[in-house]
Amino acid sequence: MSAHSVSKITETPRLLFLSLVASCAGPMQAPPDAGPVASPCASCHPSHTAQFETSRHATAAVGPRYVALRDQSDLRTRAFCDSCHRPVVGTARGLSCESCHVAVGNTGTSNARLVWDRNGAIRGSFNAVQTAGHRSAVHGFISSAELCGTCHEVRGPGAFHETPYTEWAASPSATRGETCADCHMSPTPGQSSPRARGPAANETGIVSPERSLADHRFVGPDHDDAPSLLRDVLTIALAREGDELVATVQNTLRGHYYPTGARFIREAWMEVAATRIDGSRVVLRGALDSLGRLQSGPLAPLALFHDELAAGLPAESAIVSVRAMAPLERRVFRMVVGSESPVISQIIVRARYRPASVTLLQSLNVDTLVPVYEVASASIPW
Ligand code: HEC
Ligand code: HEC
Ligand code: HEC
Ligand code: HEC
Ligand code: HEC
Repeated sequence: MSAHSVSKITETPRLLFLSLVASCAGPMQAPPDAGPVASPCASCHPSHTAQFETSRHATAAVGPRYVALRDQSDLRTRAFCDSCHRPVVGTARGLSCESCHVAVGNTGTSNARLVWDRNGAIRGSFNAVQTAGHRSAVHGFISSAELCGTCHEVRGPGAFHETPYTEWAASPSATRGETCADCHMSPTPGQSSPRARGPAANETGIVSPERSLADHRFVGPDHDDAPSLLRDVLTIALAREGDELVATVQNTLRGHYYPTGARFIREAWMEVAATRIDGSRVVLRGALDSLGRLQSGPLAPLALFHDELAAGLPAESAIVSVRAMAPLERRVFRMVVGSESPVISQIIVRARYRPASVTLLQSLNVDTLVPVYEVASASIPW
C-alpha cells in the first residue's frame, strides 16, 4: 500500500477526472462504481471506453470465480486480492482508466506496488492536443512492461503465484524491446502487429489528429475473442515409430511461458483421439469424464501444462511443479498406441485450453460451464 504516500487529494473541480478519484479513501473501502455509462472518459473517448468495457480489467472485482476464492480468505488476504482486482485507483467493479493513466511508477515490480499521481495530468505516450477534459503529459511508465508487471507478478499465499513479468524479462521479447502492450494492445491479440490508426478522441470543437491506437480489449482467456489469442500458440508435428506415436510440440510464443498468469486455475492439456477403420472415434488420452473433469490414470492427457497443485483450495495449497513451456521451447511426447493400433486408421492430437479447472469450480460451488479452446491440432494416418 505504498501508494498512500502519493495519494493526497486536493479538490480541483477544473479537472474532470479528479472528482472521480477524489473519493477513493483506502483499500478496504470500495470506491464508487463509475459504471460504463457514467465513465468520465466515455464522452470524448467512446471507442477506448467501449473496448475497455469488454475487458476483464473492467470487471476484475466481480468475476464469480474471483469472488468465490476471495470470500473464502481471511480479511488480510482479501485486502491483498483487492489491491490488484479492485485497486485504490479503480472502481468497485475493477480497474478504471486512471488505474493505468495516472500511474507514474512503482516501488517494486510485483504485488500491485504502483505509485499513482492523482493530482497530476493524464499520462500518455504522445504530445496530446489541448482539451477541456484534462491536462495531458507524456510519461514513459505508461508504455512500459513494468506498468503491467506490477499487477501481473503475484507473490501471494498458497498457489496464488503469477510470473508473466519475470518470464518476460528473461524472454526473447524483452531482448528485442517488445513489451506486453506491443502484443496485448495490438489489433491481433497476442501478436505484435501494426496498430490501427485514427483519432484518439472525439471532442466537440477539437480537431484530433490521426494517431496510432492501442486496443483496450485486453483479450485474454476469459475474453470472447480468446480463440484468436490462443489459436496456434503451439504447433504439433506427429511421427510414427513402430506402434509408438511421437508428438513434437513447439511453443511459438517468445514473450513468456505457455500458459502464464493464473496457472493455479487454468487447464492446458494434450488430447489424443483416433478414428477407427470402421469410422468410429475414440479418445485414447485426455478424455473428460461425465462431469467434464480431466481424468488421471490410463486416460490422463498425454501432457499437462498448467501448474500442479497440492490438494486443497489455492490459498492453502502450494505449487508442486510448474509444467508450462518456456518461450520457444520444444518438447517431445511419446505414446505406445497398444492393442487398438491395428484397427486405427488415423490419429489426431490436440492441444486444448480452458480458463478454469472444473474440479476446482465444483469445490467452489460456482458455474462449471467453461469453454474448451483448441490451441493446436495435427493428424497422422495410422
Ligand atoms: C472533454 C473531452 C475529454 C475527456 C472528458 C477526456 N479526454 Fe482524454 N483526451 C481528449 C483529447 C481531445 C485528447 C487529445 C487527443 C490527441 O491529441 O490526439 C485526449 C488525450 C488523452 C490521452 C493521451 C494523452 C497523451 O499525452 O498521450 C489519454 C491517455 C486520455 N486522453 C485519457 C483520458 C481518460 C483516462 C479520461 C477520463 C479520466 C479522459 N481522457 C477524458 C479529450 C478528453
Ligand atoms: C510476443 C507477444 C507477447 C508478449 C511480449 C507478451 N505476451 Fe502475454 N500472451 C501472448 C499470447 C500469444 C498469449 C496466449 C497464450 C498464453 O496464455 O500463454 C498470452 C497470454 C497472456 C496472459 C493470459 C495467460 C493465461 O493463460 O491466463 C496474460 C495474463 C499475459 N499474457 C500477460 C502478459 C504480460 C504482463 C506481458 C509483459 C510482461 C506479456 N503478456 C507479454 C503474447 C505475448
Ligand atoms: C491496463 C492499463 C490501461 C487501462 C486500464 C487503460 N489504458 Fe489507455 N492506454 C494504456 C496503454 C499502455 C496505452 C498506450 C501507450 C503506448 O502507446 O505505448 C494507452 C493509450 C490510451 C490512449 C491514447 C491513444 C491510443 O489508443 O494509444 C487513450 C486515449 C486511452 N488510452 C484512453 C483510455 C481510456 C478512456 C481508458 C478507460 C476506458 C483507458 N485508456 C484504460 C493502458 C491502459
Ligand atoms: C492495477 C492492476 C493491473 C494492471 C496495471 C494491469 N493489469 Fe491486466 N489484469 C489485472 C487483473 C486483476 C486481471 C484479472 C481480471 C480477472 O479476470 O479477474 C488482469 C487480466 C489481464 C489479462 C487477461 C484477461 C482475460 O481475459 O483473462 C490480460 C491479457 C491483461 N490483464 C493484460 C494487461 C496488460 C497488457 C497490462 C499493461 C498495459 C495490464 N494488464 C496491466 C490487473 C492489472
Ligand atoms: C498482484 C496482483 C494480484 C493479486 C494481489 C491477486 N491477483 Fe488474482 N489475478 C491477477 C492478475 C494479473 C490476473 C490475470 C492472470 C491471467 O489472466 O492469467 C489474476 C487472475 C485471477 C483469477 C483468474 C480469473 C478468474 O476470474 O477466473 C482468479 C480466480 C484470481 N485472480 C483470484 C485472486 C484471489 C482470490 C486473490 C487473493 C488471494 C488474488 N487473485 C490476488 C492479479 C492479482
